Amino acid sequence: MAEMIDKKQAQGCADCKEELDVSEALPLIDQIIGSFKTTKGALIPILQQTQNLLGYLPEEALLHISRELDTPYSEVTGVVTFYSFFSTVPRGKHVIRVCLGTACYVRGGKQVLDALVRDLNIGVGETTEDRFFSLEVGRCFGACSLAPVVMIDETVHQRIRPDKVHELLAQYRDQDQEEGAHA
Ligand code: FES
Repeated sequence: MAEMIDKKQAQGCADCKEELDVSEALPLIDQIIGSFKTTKGALIPILQQTQNLLGYLPEEALLHISRELDTPYSEVTGVVTFYSFFSTVPRGKHVIRVCLGTACYVRGGKQVLDALVRDLNIGVGETTEDRFFSLEVGRCFGACSLAPVVMIDETVHQRIRPDKVHELLAQYRDQDQEEGAHA
């Protein structure tokens, strides 16, 4: 089921959360819920669109969804916990996911993760202070022949070596600066 969800949507919008606080967003969440009124299994798409709106899924939003759908809060949080693309904490502009599936692990995925932890100075599940990068792990992105693999947002970076991690992160920072200069 996870594969059915668009990765970009699931990632959320890092910029949106700067603009909307949860109470302001409740009418918009109601609109989202309303648009899925007749849909079976609406909880996941509702959570997904709410995350798109806020950039993450704060407790207040989850409680609201639970009430409006008349679904136990434990069920809502169970779904959020089960799918790794849902986040209950604000995420950075770019989400880095390091594959620790078998093929990537044996080809150095863990060392790549360690290099990212050192370079970013954050742990797994955390976001850099400037909210630019979040670091997560995954279990097989279906690109085993390219192992070890790191996904940044929707882009798969293949055969990443620990000594190339810094360069890879710098590309994203440079690109962001360029976009800022042209904005
Ligand atoms: S194990 Fe990493 S992509 Fe399959």
